[in-house]
Amino acid sequence: PFLSLIIAAAGQGRRLGTGSNKVFLPLGDKPILAHTLAVAEASPLVDEVIVVTRPEDIPLCHQVVTGGPYRKVRQIVTGGRERQDSIAAGLKAVAPAAEWVAVHDGARPFLSPALLERVITAARDTGAAIAALPVKETIKRGNTEDLVTATLERRGLWAVQTPQVFRRDWLAAAYREAEINGWQATDDAALVERAGYPVKLVPGEEVNIKITTPGDLILARAIMAGDS
Ligand code: CTP
Ligand code: MG
Repeated sequence: PFLSLIIAAAGQGRRLGTGSNKVFLPLGDKPILAHTLAVAEASPLVDEVIVVTRPEDIPLCHQVVTGGPYRKVRQIVTGGRERQDSIAAGLKAVAPAAEWVAVHDGARPFLSPALLERVITAARDTGAAIAALPVKETIKRGNTEDLVTATLERRGLWAVQTPQVFRRDWLAAAYREAEINGWQATDDAALVERAGYPVKLVPGEEVNIKITTPGDLILARAIMAGDS
């Protein structure tokens, strides 16, 4: 069955603080974004790739794609203000033939072929599946004065990653409802859940970090060097 992979790469990289879109920073022998492109290119489960980026990054993105070359990239599209707007734009560009849509953060370069396969396989079973890890730390809620207002029961809590894989019609319906009702969420599954569909949790990988802060970049270079 035809699967389209949307790569979210339209962020500003504010927390990393390099003043550029972090997905184009070098990591090992290629840009951060290219690590995901390479995995998609090699995966028999991925039929096409849609890259979503900022308007000003389109020439650079095109250069990265042709540099591979990553032949599965069918379109580079312009993202929006929030990640959700970027995925919505990507979803509009998905091939009519696609029955499945996978979403991955361009800022997660350590996607393994095994994890991608695991999430896709689980989604085929249930309709929707996401990579996630059980939280290791105790999570508390704090108020505006940094006083603890609650300690959450850790059992049953998961820290969510990408990839996230959905039946295309479920994801499209969820995004349609989000637009109509003004729902906002920080991951795609939240919209799918809210639209009433079941979402399966699949064990993610600890190295599948999202490069968010300067510390994450140091960690990423260490993982790359193989001394983590
Ligand atoms: N992203 C996107 N469109 C946006 C915002 C984010 O496609 N409007 C993408 C980013 O490029 C990244 C992923 O979503 O690959 C996860 O977002 P995040 O880590 O928050 O990246 P940035 O938004 O770039 O970073 P920051 O929030 O620190 O500015
Ligand atoms: Mg962001």
